[in-house]
Amino acid sequence: MILCFWLVAVTPVSCWGQMLLDTGDVFQPQSALTDMEFGTVSTYRGPGNYDHRPNKELPILLWWSSNLFPHFPGDTERVDCARYSCLVTRNRKVQLYRRTVSIIFYGTDFRAYEAPLPRMPHQTWALFHEESPMNNYLLSHSVGIRLFNYTATFRRESDYPLTLQWLPSLDYLLTPSAVSLQEKNRWRNAGLAPVLYMQSHCDVPSDRDRYVQELMKYIEIDSYGKCLNNRHLPEDLEDTSTATGEDRRFMSFVARYKFHLALENGLCPDYMTEKLWRPMHQGCVPIYRGSSSVADWLPNNHSAILIDNFPSPRDLAEHIKALDQDDTEYSRYLEYKSPAKITNLHLLNVLETREWGVNDMSKPNYLNGFECFVCDRENERLAAVNAHKKNPKQNPLPLPKMAVSSHMGCPVPSPGYGSVESIDANDSWNLMWPQDYWQSLDQAEGLESLIRHNMSDPSLLWQHMQNIAVRGARGR
Ligand SMILES: *[C@@H]1O[C@H](CO)[C@@H](O)[C@H](O)[C@H]1NC(C)=O
Ligand SMILES: *[C@@H]1O[C@H](CO)[C@@H](O)[C@H](O)[C@H]1NC(C)=O
Ligand SMILES: *[C@@H]1O[C@H](CO)[C@@H](O)[C@H](O)[C@H]1NC(C)=O
Ligand SMILES: *[C@@H]1O[C@H](CO)[C@@H](O)[C@H](O)[C@H]1NC(C)=O
Repeated sequence: MILCFWLVAVTPVSCWGQMLLDTGDVFQPQSALTDMEFGTVSTYRGPGNYDHRPNKELPILLWWSSNLFPHFPGDTERVDCARYSCLVTRNRKVQLYRRTVSIIFYGTDFRAYEAPLPRMPHQTWALFHEESPMNNYLLSHSVGIRLFNYTATFRRESDYPLTLQWLPSLDYLLTPSAVSLQEKNRWRNAGLAPVLYMQSHCDVPSDRDRYVQELMKYIEIDSYGKCLNNRHLPEDLEDTSTATGEDRRFMSFVARYKFHLALENGLCPDYMTEKLWRPMHQGCVPIYRGSSSVADWLPNNHSAILIDNFPSPRDLAEHIKALDQDDTEYSRYLEYKSPAKITNLHLLNVLETREWGVNDMSKPNYLNGFECFVCDRENERLAAVNAHKKNPKQNPLPLPKMAVSSHMGCPVPSPGYGSVESIDANDSWNLMWPQDYWQSLDQAEGLESLIRHNMSDPSLLWQHMQNIAVRGARGR
């Protein structure tokens, strides 16, 4: 049977169902989606969406990371996006369906030895990864990221960038106003250090504690977390210190400090988290290391102290001490609290134009947003492929779309202070992170090999990794 239907948005295409359903060369198990296929059509519809196909004719997007499936309840849903519609599901039974056009992965959960194989040539892979690069270094290698066709990552270069995910709004920077400098100075005289450190996740790839420990030699730092602890929180705050950090009493306590150490757990361009934005919200100057391109996003060129601009911890300490003594200069760092002093047009523009919201019910969240991004791109691609089939001379095949290194591409972890050679071979950071980074490369190469050989058993990964290693050793 040939099912034809009318798709208004794509003029030359009127019989798309034929292309999707009559290709006999692919394994087509019994429908796993029966209930949903014949279910009612959902009510919301993007304003430019004229896609009136019934559910059973829609392309399918499969969420491989099922715990991120952004719909409730049920395992399958129709989504009507800006231009087109799709059926989205977390039911892995559809993995090999002809209609399953894309598989969506969450980077932190992505495991090469559990990848959906064989990789179907008609299916794209979509990667959602907003978390730290340390969660999966496989994605930081070109050979790893190039396995994906669409990306949503913290990098501005990705297809659906999530760069300012930790900055809910401009207002978050502007309010509340900072604790007055008079009061901050009073706390200084009462015995608070100029700098606060609050970290309980110690063994991380950025190796931040090694830097902070060195910095502590030259300037007073109050460290309340588990890492480099030298001070206890007031008793009434102890229970809140591990909470979200947005607790009111906790906030007013940390806001007394002039400076907050703000070092990300992993280093990568555009990887910025609440470590950066929260001190600014609280009216404290971040002493920051994380994204090497952070200056592109700051409200103005004097709103954070960037560790990498200083040749040594000692030089940084001198700068902080000078600011601690100079109220006028210190105050300049908090000028962004008035809107007129937020001069970074790039920041303003991105905050205003991003289509997803953070805690903002009037906008989609970025999981639904990315899902629709993939849905629309895939429908466009299918329409173009079909147009090509009908009239190859007039309609060229769409070009392949692949992710590239800059969609993630984080550098190999390096010591927080000093050179690799200066670090003990048995140092726990040394034993863990550089190895993790290079083993992830081996896994990415292994998976690429599995796909190239059209393997259907991902657990053959280890064997392929070994073969690659053996060949590499012979080559040398
Ligand atoms: C910040 O920008 C202003 C104006 O563009 C410039 O005069 C000033 O030197 C800059 N300050 C720093 C610390 O780069
Ligand atoms: C998706 O990416 C794979 C792997 O890089 C590539 O072989 C394939 O052509 C891409 N698919 C599309 C539709 O661009
Ligand atoms: C590293 O630790 C192992 C086991 O504790 C020990 O045998 C070895 O001598 C150490 N190596 C160095 C360079 O400290
Ligand atoms: C890849 O493997 C699948 C089944 O495992 C098979 O149906 C398909 O024809 C193979 N593709 C190629 C290009 O060999």
